[in-house]
Amino acid sequence: MVNKNSPSTKSRLLEQLRSLRETPVSGEELASAIGVSRVAIWKTTKALIAAGYPIEVHDSGYRIGAEATDDLLFPWEFGSHEGLMHYWSTTTSTMDRARELAEKGAADGSIAVAEAQTAGRGRSGRAWNSSKGGLFFTLVQTDRIPVLQYARGGMRAAAAVADAVRTITGAHAELRWPNDVYIGAKKIAGILTELRADGDRIKWTLIGIGVNVNNPGDQASTISCGELAGTHVSRRKILNAFLGAFRGLARVDGGELAKEWNARAFGIGSRVAVLSADHGTDKRLAADSPDGIFGGIDELGRAIIETGKGTELLDPGAVSLKWS
Ligand code: BTN
Repeated sequence: MVNKNSPSTKSRLLEQLRSLRETPVSGEELASAIGVSRVAIWKTTKALIAAGYPIEVHDSGYRIGAEATDDLLFPWEFGSHEGLMHYWSTTTSTMDRARELAEKGAADGSIAVAEAQTAGRGRSGRAWNSSKGGLFFTLVQTDRIPVLQYARGGMRAAAAVADAVRTITGAHAELRWPNDVYIGAKKIAGILTELRADGDRIKWTLIGIGVNVNNPGDQASTISCGELAGTHVSRRKILNAFLGAFRGLARVDGGELAKEWNARAFGIGSRVAVLSADHGTDKRLAADSPDGIFGGIDELGRAIIETGKGTELLDPGAVSLKWS
């Protein structure tokens, strides 16, 4: 029986080939190193070549070409996470695929990832530019937390995305409420959360994450990791760094999570205007809308706004903030 947690033959074969790049290795040697038959090595090699890996087959054995294969998003590229990864070359939206996975009872931590989306969506009904080169994935969470705490997954993911971008590009990524990731005044990543509740408990939460990696930004207000680094950036490395950072925040309670988020936040202590959720217009919600000083977020992900009349707590999704 295949153990879901042990690496697949594809993963182990690639590991062997990558560590022995210079000279071809015989099928027999590979078979004995991995513990499978030579036929399995041949079949796996054929599957990897079909997936686009530059594997050369010589009389003396197999060798992987020097061309970069560092940016591939196939499940077997994600180590211990392999069993949780679900890959699409193109799909409508990874939110759609993740929803199907969640409805079928997928394990907590399952991820739907796609090279490109034909109907990528952002918050407030906006479209999300999903051309090839960007990183588009949705994480399924199945912990049955109270609906009141629904924002936690997004808070945790936002902190992890900011850390991943910082780790891989060295750029200082900051969070803008509710969960946008910015470099200076330009957006580099966005997060969309959808959930299904069962009474007052969450059944599943989908956390959709889009990161501009090597795809051209569609507006003057966006930036990509590639532009920051001045070179091609590996989406696999960004996703792996995200997974590590996300795991690191696993047992953090709401209060601690808010602290982590606030430590990465832009604009705490600065004046903000509260706008309608679509952010497009400069229309104040009401004459007495709580424009004031942004005090970060609380344990439920609500924006804390200090106004002349007291403290207001704003639910994510209801409004957006604009820093003056
Ligand atoms: C936003 O800032 O408006 C949120 C953008 C979220 C985009 C990601 S890309 C992966 C997942 N699939 C989607 O269709 N949307 C999210």
